[in-house]
Amino acid sequence: DKGNHRHFMAKEIYEQPEVISHTFGHYLDLAAETVTLPELPFDPKTVTNISITACGTALYAGAVAEYWFERFGRVPVSTDIASEFRYRETPLTPDGITIVISQSGETADTLASLRYAKECGQKVVAVVNVPTSTIAREADVVLPILAGPEIGVASTKAFTCQLATLACLAVAFGRAKGVLEEADEHKLVRAFMEVPRLMTEALKLSPEIEVLARTLAKARDVLYLGRGSNYPLALEGALKLKEISYIHAEGYAGGELKHGPIALIDEKMPVVVIAPHDRIFDKTVSNMEEVAARGGRIILVTDPLGAAAVDVGAVQKLILPEMPSTVCPMVYSIPVQLIAYHTAVIMGTDVDQPRNLAKSVTVE
Ligand code: F6R
Repeated sequence: DKGNHRHFMAKEIYEQPEVISHTFGHYLDLAAETVTLPELPFDPKTVTNISITACGTALYAGAVAEYWFERFGRVPVSTDIASEFRYRETPLTPDGITIVISQSGETADTLASLRYAKECGQKVVAVVNVPTSTIAREADVVLPILAGPEIGVASTKAFTCQLATLACLAVAFGRAKGVLEEADEHKLVRAFMEVPRLMTEALKLSPEIEVLARTLAKARDVLYLGRGSNYPLALEGALKLKEISYIHAEGYAGGELKHGPIALIDEKMPVVVIAPHDRIFDKTVSNMEEVAARGGRIILVTDPLGAAAVDVGAVQKLILPEMPSTVCPMVYSIPVQLIAYHTAVIMGTDVDQPRNLAKSVTVE
């Protein structure tokens, strides 16, 4: 049932404030302002490294979480594509853990990666949406994301609920390792509790995005840029646009622009810049100046401070409320998803069932 929406994807985008509040409700003690996880089969305090592996959108959720585990837990993380991880024979030792992330819980390469990590003697945490799935059954501990059934082939609410779950796990690591103090935990939990409201605000950008999408729909290629934990969101934005609008898109870390992709910039290639006003914002401003100097059109997804600080060439701004940087990848997902959605609707593609794609990839 699509409710009042034209597509399941739209329904699932709009559901996010509600479903993510369930996810947080499950992993947070709202009164105590603490994270509450199920019992873990390892002591986070003694974990020396984390491998994260998954495919597609779930991989990008893992890539965002890498920043959180390293910042909150000071624990080294390596994030890798499951189809590479499973065959790379990377040496895994039992003092490390592996986290696999999968909406369906049936993705062949992710399952094989889980089995490889277990063979190496590691405990495996599965972050899944389908609790009865093979990956959930075989993992040492399951953290359900509680997004509810996701029908649209392009993943939306599963992505943000994966982020919410991983953020809670990262805070738990930070506390166990003594990197985060009790007061830091309270502050982060309060920030998480604001996410549903911030997402509701972000959804109000939809009409503006619909207008922008008319120009995007004419593009042959689109570049997405982000830095820090918003870099994986640039990858996710590009993936989403490719999947449902069939427009070629690429995501890059802002700092990589001058190492190659800048050669592509001209007035025909829109650049979507995902940049809240954070400690690396100034670096992103230089990227935008480089793009503007070559006639590139910019769509800047930012906050009021970021919008006020940018005064270059042709920039269209999508302005979100101010928020703590940890929650940015969750909230900024909304405009990123809406950009892909509205562009695809204008192109007239089959948004919920894009060509050549399957919801669950159970073969290699
Ligand atoms: C993107 C998308 C795919 C999946 C990938 C992993 O919108 O849907 O990239 O994210 O196939 O699937 P799961 O999460 O089921 O393992």
